[in-house]
Amino acid sequence: MTEPDFLTATRAAYDTASALYAESIPELFHAGPLNRAMIPVFAELIRAAGDGLVADVGCGPGHITAYLRSLGVTAFGVDLSPEMIALARGAHPGIRFEVGLMGALEVEDASLAGVLANYSIIHTPPERLPETFAEFHRVLAPGGHLLLAFQAYDHPTEPAEAFDHKVSLAYRYSPDHVAELLLKAGLAEVARLVCAPGEDPQRGFPQAHLLARRTA
Ligand SMILES: C[S@@+](CC[C@H](N)C(=O)[O-])C[C@H]1O[C@@H](n2cnc3c(N)ncnc32)[C@H](O)[C@@H]1O
Repeated sequence: MTEPDFLTATRAAYDTASALYAESIPELFHAGPLNRAMIPVFAELIRAAGDGLVADVGCGPGHITAYLRSLGVTAFGVDLSPEMIALARGAHPGIRFEVGLMGALEVEDASLAGVLANYSIIHTPPERLPETFAEFHRVLAPGGHLLLAFQAYDHPTEPAEAFDHKVSLAYRYSPDHVAELLLKAGLAEVARLVCAPGEDPQRGFPQAHLLARRTA
């Protein structure tokens, strides 16, 4: 089957940018408390449910997979960029990292306690989000949690806008629209944190962190 163009373009862009990305982004992630505010909450919910397996999809160089591990969660990373996965394996030798697609995860149905997608759905075009969320629903056990982070779009009628991301074409999404699509996929919103545009010195976009749970 032919691969959709957006995946080929995203892979090529992150393969090229991987070293630069790995030099700067993990440090920024650890420096900003709001960036990671929802992650300990997510980790606590996972642990409370009995410490199942968590996939960090679009894991990049693996710093958040490692952060989840430091919070007592059995996490592994998946990314479509082989270069990113090579960097993640080099930086975190004790953790499992695999090349793969978030829209076609190589895991059994209902086998995960959690899925984290931190700024990784942003390269998925709006019309492909429903199938991505259907895949998250497929792999999550009933009661399992999903945590999404993405640049938010606050527009009265438009659900998404393309923007000029440094690495590859990206989209910012209306949190209400994303929550609606998640619900249609069987993932009900539990909580959201939306950081004010002024907290983003780079582009002035609000940043959304949306936590959802697979309904029984
Ligand atoms: C903006 S980076 C985020 C990396 C990391 N999660 C973080 O927060 O720093 C987006 C990552 O998602 C990966 N990615 C994008 N689309 C993907 C897809 N469909 N399947 C798997 N990985 C994907 C990219 O290769 C890249 O490493």
